[in-house]
Amino acid sequence: MNLTPFSSPPRRIAVLASGRGSNLQALLDAIDAGTLDADIVGVFSDKPQAPVLQRVPEALRWSRDAKLYPQRVDFDADLAAAIASTQPDWVVCAGYLRILDAAFVQRFHGRLLNIHPSLLPKYRGLRTHIRALAAGDREHGVSVHFVTPDLDAGAVIAQAVVAVDAQDDADSLAARVLQAEHPLLLAVVRLAVAGRIAEQDATAQLDGHTLFTPLQLDCTGHLARSGA
Ligand code: GRF
Repeated sequence: MNLTPFSSPPRRIAVLASGRGSNLQALLDAIDAGTLDADIVGVFSDKPQAPVLQRVPEALRWSRDAKLYPQRVDFDADLAAAIASTQPDWVVCAGYLRILDAAFVQRFHGRLLNIHPSLLPKYRGLRTHIRALAAGDREHGVSVHFVTPDLDAGAVIAQAVVAVDAQDDADSLAARVLQAEHPLLLAVVRLAVAGRIAEQDATAQLDGHTLFTPLQLDCTGHLARSGA
């Protein structure tokens, strides 16, 4: 089944999440404050007990226990059908802790965003904070990227850099990265609902031009071209 065309403006957002949902909350707070012109059309989870679901009214929640499905492809097909029925312009993975199968990614191609707590291409996958500390990195951070079938490998749209302190452990570093996640996700979603970003030929585009390096979040919460 094909997706409906983008709305004008493309402000319908479906969110996928498995856990606490602080990134979703950042979007909800901005919508409430009138600083993000978007509609959350559904929150989708592989974990029926996930706290994230409680952040939206029941009518917007969809969850199934992914472990009860015989195969990933079966769960992802149900998930995709449920998401498509809400006619989203964008599908935002915000702490969604399952790998999406290739058919799912293909179906939402060009509309599927993910927030990942590392400066991609460094540290795809899990345990990013521990790996950054073990490598002795002085800088760590977070990326928002288009999703492709390969894990955390799609075109990066924007990043926020977080300095690593000598005293950091994985928890303290994760907490500071999380503080950067919320404004970064918000800033990219603002671009998305304004119709300013797109994925083309495995690159991220801003206003119709290829982003050769990710946008960088500055200390005022705005995105700038790197080096600008
Ligand atoms: C964030 O660190 C996100 O980058 C990672 O999972 C966490 C989700 O946090 N993929 P929350 O559920 O949005 O609070």
